[in-house]
Formats: sequence, C-alpha cells, structure tokens
Amino acid sequence: MAKWERRGLQNLYRVGSIPTQCSIINIIMNEDIRTYISLLETKKEEVKLNPLPYKMDALAPILSKENVEYHYSVLSRGYVDRYNKKEGDPAFNLGGAKLHNLWWEQLKPIGGTNSPAGPIQELIAKHYNNSLGLVDAMIEEAMTIQGSGWVYLTKSGIVKTTANQTFKTDILLHIDMWEHSFMDYMPSKDAKKKYIRSIMKIIDWDVINKRL
Ligand SMILES: [Fe+2]
Repeated sequence: MAKWERRGLQNLYRVGSIPTQCSIINIIMNEDIRTYISLLETKKEEVKLNPLPYKMDALAPILSKENVEYHYSVLSRGYVDRYNKKEGDPAFNLGGAKLHNLWWEQLKPIGGTNSPAGPIQELIAKHYNNSLGLVDAMIEEAMTIQGSGWVYLTKSGIVKTTANQTFKTDILLHIDMWEHSFMDYMPSKDAKKKYIRSIMKIIDWDVINKRL
C-alpha cells in the first residue's frame, strides 16, 4: 500500500468514518471503506476538470458569474489538482473532482419551459408524481444534511444525501449543498430552499436522460 493510500485510510479513521474498535467484518461492510476502495482502484487515473459547457455568466441569475467563477475555477479545479498532485486526502479530492464534473455538466442557461421529458419524466412521475414533487423531496432530504454534502436523485428514483465529497455511483441528478454553492442566496432565511428550487429550473434534462 502506497504512503498516500495509508494516509487516506488514516484520515478516515481520524475523522471517525470508521470505528477503530469494529471487527474486520464490519470494516468490510462499511460503506465508506467500500467507496474508498473503489476510489483507490482508480488511483492511476489522471482526473481532469471538464470544460464548462457554457460561459461563466450563462447561469445568471440562478448562479451569478462570481459564484460560477469561484466554484469552477478555484474550488472544482482545486479538487482535481490536489488529487493529481497527491496532496491531501485522495478519496476526498477524487470525490470532489467527480462530483463537480457531473455538477457543471447537468446545468444549462435558464430559458423557456424546462420540463423533464422522456425516461427521466417517467421516473419522476412514478416516484414523485411530477417535477414539483421531486423538488419538494429534494428540499426535504437536503434539510437533513449536517454540515456539507450533496442531495441527489438515484438512478432508481430515490432521493438521498451524501456527505462532504463522497462520490456515489448511483447519482442521476445532484445538487451541491456546500455553502459555497448557494452563497448567492445568503443570507436569506430560506436560502437553501430558494437555491434548490432555482437550480431545478436550470437542470439539463437531456444530460440526465443520458445518465439513465
Ligand atoms: Fe462545490
């Protein structure tokens, strides 16, 4: 095991993701460990920050130009660069890189009616009646996040959360619930709710359908 891999595992123990006294079976069953091992399997992969598929100001007024510039050029690039340079926790940085590449890809400038269609519309209708029902479910689940994380719709139609930058392979559509992402909506009392409702207006449903 390489030094940086050991350091990642030590970090998981340090932050309490893994109970230090648990049995080896519990360790094997621990979701964080499974996620971490799957990430290690891709350790030779050079991660790239995908090009932004629109201009920095194209998501305004849902996300300001300043928000997108900082979030994409500084934060998203930071996860990628630190992972490739083997700085910090590799699981955290690789997770952050993958989550943010998916995040920017699934958004598009606001305009016209933007309703889900095709397979994603069928999935939403089956589980949430309509897209408004999905938005309510995303908001309800997002409110359970302690600290930072993401709320997401799985490919089987369930709304879940994932903490920090923990990547999940079943993500279909996700919303960044780190404060840096919804700073445009601060300090409103209902900042998170307004932000989620707004983001759902600029989801590129064609991208989501390709993930199904
Ligand atoms: Fe983010």
